[in-house]
Amino acid sequence: MKSTMRLLAMIFAVAIVSISCSETELQSSVSSPDGNLVVNTGLNAAGTPVYAVTFKGKTIVDTSAVGFEFKDMEYLGRNMTLTGASSSTMDETWEMPWGEQRLVQNTYNELKLDYSEQGDAARKFSIVIRVYDDGLGFRFEFPEQEHMKEVLLLDENTEFALTGDHKVWWLPGDWDIYEQLYTNSKFSEIDAISMRDHPALVATYIPENAVNTPVTMKTDSGLYLSFHEADLTNYSGMTLKVDTQTYKMTSELVGSERLGGKAKLTVPFNTPWRTLQVGESAGDLIESNLIVNLNEPNEIGDVSYFTPMKYVGIWWEMHIGKSTWDMEGSQDMNTYIEGAKNSSRHGATTENAMRYIDFAAANGIKGLLVEGWNTGWDQWINTTDREGVFDFMTPYPDYDFDAVMAYAKEKGVEVIMHHETSAAPRTYEKQMEVAYNFMKENGMNSVKTGYVGKIIPEGEYHHGQWMVNHYHKVLTEAAKKKIAINAHEPIKATGKRRTYPNAISREGLRGQEFNAWSPDGGNPPSHLPTVAFTRMLSGPIDFTPGVFNIKFDEYMTSNQVNTTLAQQLALYVVIYSPIQMVADLPEHYMVNGEIHPAFQFIRDVAVDWEQSIVLDGEVGDFVVIARQEKGSENWFVGGITGETVRAQEVSFDFLPEGKTYTATIYKDGEGAHWNDNPTAYAIETMEVAKDTKVTIAMAAGGGFAISLMAN
Ligand code: NOJ
Ligand code: CA
Repeated sequence: MKSTMRLLAMIFAVAIVSISCSETELQSSVSSPDGNLVVNTGLNAAGTPVYAVTFKGKTIVDTSAVGFEFKDMEYLGRNMTLTGASSSTMDETWEMPWGEQRLVQNTYNELKLDYSEQGDAARKFSIVIRVYDDGLGFRFEFPEQEHMKEVLLLDENTEFALTGDHKVWWLPGDWDIYEQLYTNSKFSEIDAISMRDHPALVATYIPENAVNTPVTMKTDSGLYLSFHEADLTNYSGMTLKVDTQTYKMTSELVGSERLGGKAKLTVPFNTPWRTLQVGESAGDLIESNLIVNLNEPNEIGDVSYFTPMKYVGIWWEMHIGKSTWDMEGSQDMNTYIEGAKNSSRHGATTENAMRYIDFAAANGIKGLLVEGWNTGWDQWINTTDREGVFDFMTPYPDYDFDAVMAYAKEKGVEVIMHHETSAAPRTYEKQMEVAYNFMKENGMNSVKTGYVGKIIPEGEYHHGQWMVNHYHKVLTEAAKKKIAINAHEPIKATGKRRTYPNAISREGLRGQEFNAWSPDGGNPPSHLPTVAFTRMLSGPIDFTPGVFNIKFDEYMTSNQVNTTLAQQLALYVVIYSPIQMVADLPEHYMVNGEIHPAFQFIRDVAVDWEQSIVLDGEVGDFVVIARQEKGSENWFVGGITGETVRAQEVSFDFLPEGKTYTATIYKDGEGAHWNDNPTAYAIETMEVAKDTKVTIAMAAGGGFAISLMAN
């Protein structure tokens, strides 16, 4: 490890700033290393711990209370006193095994405040606050104590009092899925309840007017804020209940009807970090490393069994209805396809897999995902009892597992396993060990998991503590077998990839698949320019870009991808993931028997980065990102826009001094438009250097991708 570690721990007197109002005495404060961000804390008249946040002297989170409700206990968070305070600082650099950048700077000031109730049966907890230049996190630590042992948490009431009616990009606080579209509205207009009962979501539960995190905002003065959580471990996911009158958000944890509460906890425990990223530009949010920094260092050791890669898959063809996951023909797995055909068009055949392997090998693509390889898909969605429909071992008779594995090996392609659990985690936990051994015996190092449907048993939700623990167990058990996980229908990313780097990627958003079949027409052009500043702040995304046959009318006429072809290329740079799918069908990348000229970008683009820089962007509108390939001097740039046509200036001043590069620019062609003319593209090659600037036209729903090869 090249990282240098320097921990300067010191205990010093807590600053007394006394920004007091009549009721609340804000006594202790801690600021970011650059001094811009300050967290002030204290106790209000009721003896409730409170905090407030300022940025460059202006309040950005007003006085906000914290507190907890436990079953069969008094409310915790009143009549408390401060019994101790200590401070420390951290200044280290750590190395990611793969990531948006190789080296991560982790520099913060920490303040730990110990609170105790007054009286005989006093309970206690500490608040630990870490303030970075790019944001802050705080968590509650419950030490071992006499009057709390095993507790059932009914709710955590951490408040975030906003200072105005900010512009917000939000997802409803769904306990089961993050696959809704983002809405951009004023805070006072948030209406999550109206998002209930989406026709394309089989599992959704939105009990409150709450939002999921990350939730990103822009204040009237142009500051960008994003609220989320870090290190979600043995706790339930946090949604934020909104009070549209007072602009206050309060944590609302995902519950469990089986539990009759939110989380079952044994003292001592720590809550996840409650986080706030702060940026003066929208791009600052993307460049922030706050979420990973608030997680513990790698605990699983060597992860070289996984290599970042691009992969093809027997996948999109099922989503657009060319083929099916099942071979029985008893049901068309794609319930949303126009006129379900009710006949077997099994996609995962030996022959088809070999066809994809040939395509991958010919184009330097290292991975192949095969969905629908194992029996059970005929029972998958329509059955009332989905428990145990898959065993992750038995291939369909028309899929010669051994022959495919041998052919892939011969061609230098790695096969990625697929485990659709049908949201039956208990069965999966029973089968996991055998299934992972089977993978390793066959040279497979990564698996895409899936949790489609309502969780079995009833009363549990995808984002509750029980499932948080399941997803965690999958990571740790897989790590023991040297297996990497790409989870679909996952729990949100909270930076645990630092501790468990085998958490390579995940879905947890409306992916490309919605463009294939969603009855609402799929993801509108503003979707990805929003995702980059919201979902992507939490971690890598398996979005599955690269569709060239944008309209796929030969398969479906009512759906299409709502971007231009050039934007599909740009996504390989804009959306970070150490695995990037080359999602379209091999035949869709061919033009008159030749590979599509724009495919060269997909061949060239890297998947692992030395550094990443956001060149420009505005939440929901557009974003331009430059990334330097790890272990190389080459750079790649991606730009995407929503509905708005743009003339985007790109300055190459991020390039090193005194070097020239061959730039190949893949951009929207004359008259390109995401709906009217999505496949018009142009390719231009030029020599560039640090002082070069170009202006590139982005069509509506368009974008551009640039490869910069060092001369
Ligand atoms: C939903 C996943 O997001 C998708 O990628 C997968 O093909 C299906 N489930 C089947 O597992
Ligand atoms: Ca999904």
